Amino acid sequence: MDTKPTLDREPRHTNEDTPIRDSTTFPGPDTEQVLGRFLDFYRERGHQPLPGGSLLPPPGDPVLFTTSGVHPMVRHLDRGEHPLGSRLTNVQRCLRTKDLDEVGDDWHLTLFEMLGSWSFGDYSHPQSLRWGYRLLTDGFGLRPDRLHVTVFGGNGEVRPDTESLRTWGEIGLPVEPSDENWWSLGPTGPCGTDSEIHVWSGDGPPTGTPHSDPRWVELWNHVEMRYRRLGDGRLEPLPRRVVDTGMGLDRLVALVQGGRSVYDTDRFRPWRRLLGERWQLDEQLLRMVCDHLRSTVVLLGDGVRPGNTGRGYVPRRLIRRVLTTLWRDDDSRSLSELPDELVTGTLRHFRLPLDTPVRQVLRDEQRRFGDLVRRGRRVLGRYRGRPLTDGDLHYLHDTHGLPGDLVRELHVPG
Ligand code: SER
Repeated sequence: MDTKPTLDREPRHTNEDTPIRDSTTFPGPDTEQVLGRFLDFYRERGHQPLPGGSLLPPPGDPVLFTTSGVHPMVRHLDRGEHPLGSRLTNVQRCLRTKDLDEVGDDWHLTLFEMLGSWSFGDYSHPQSLRWGYRLLTDGFGLRPDRLHVTVFGGNGEVRPDTESLRTWGEIGLPVEPSDENWWSLGPTGPCGTDSEIHVWSGDGPPTGTPHSDPRWVELWNHVEMRYRRLGDGRLEPLPRRVVDTGMGLDRLVALVQGGRSVYDTDRFRPWRRLLGERWQLDEQLLRMVCDHLRSTVVLLGDGVRPGNTGRGYVPRRLIRRVLTTLWRDDDSRSLSELPDELVTGTLRHFRLPLDTPVRQVLRDEQRRFGDLVRRGRRVLGRYRGRPLTDGDLHYLHDTHGLPGDLVRELHVPG
């Protein structure tokens, strides 16, 4: 039975222009407190926290890294039950490296933690929405008039999600229906409609909707896994409906701390301050360097080592992107300047082994990349003053081991 099935007070609706966080009722928790508050909220409602959280997916999973909180749960969704119970939570670190060039904007990181909650055929999706609303407003002090939600608006295959529409209407939040509110992990397997909670991050009062104004930040996705997509494209119902929610911890912390980006939190401020003191970089590049080095520390903590293929290519690429940026202005900059407190603070937060050989790996990678850059400069001297063809790029890669990114960085075309 649901322990607190309905809202016990009406949302506050105000129009004055004040910060996202209501500082009079909310003193401003740090990341660990936010995490604790999330887990406590769901624990009080009968949810069991799941152990784990490694970036490496379970054995047999073809994907290199875990990309969402629900990722390790997929086989349980398919069966509609989980051995540890019908109400669960987890905190899952995730890695996404698809759009590396976008890292440095306000709301994206390569490595982030997702807070998840699940109901395996237990409470309903509307209940999940109500609890979500209660936690964000009463629990974290986010203002209701800075929230906007989206729901599945229907398509030729599945009817609109009128239940969520009605629930949000009763709670009193503005709703935007869209046929994009559909969640799946891949072309086949469990899937369903979702309802996303967005928070206004702009300076003035909110304008537009999540689809029309990018200052609405997607914070929390509540999915109702109802179907399984078959290989021939048909949908069949799952044995039991599963509620699956996922919320980005870094975004949540930024919003409750009144920050304007995921880099503006108690966890990233030390990175920006300490690295900013050592290396003069513009804001975008400083963010990128902080993001990539932090992700590298966690990857190493999870046991991944740099290499040329598979998982190992990810830390190698991240480290090389950092070095390319640092050496652009000053090639005496070194990763040995990375302060210990950033490394140990990160390993500690993610509960990773404190004796992870981060410094040694960074030193080895820096030496290896330094050799490659010197060789690249020498070889590319022959191509100076003319554009490179695709054939040149292939030759430089296959014969001299020079990756395209590096060649483009070092080449002087005219
Ligand atoms: N599966 C959804 C997501 O990853 C909610 O957990 O966003």
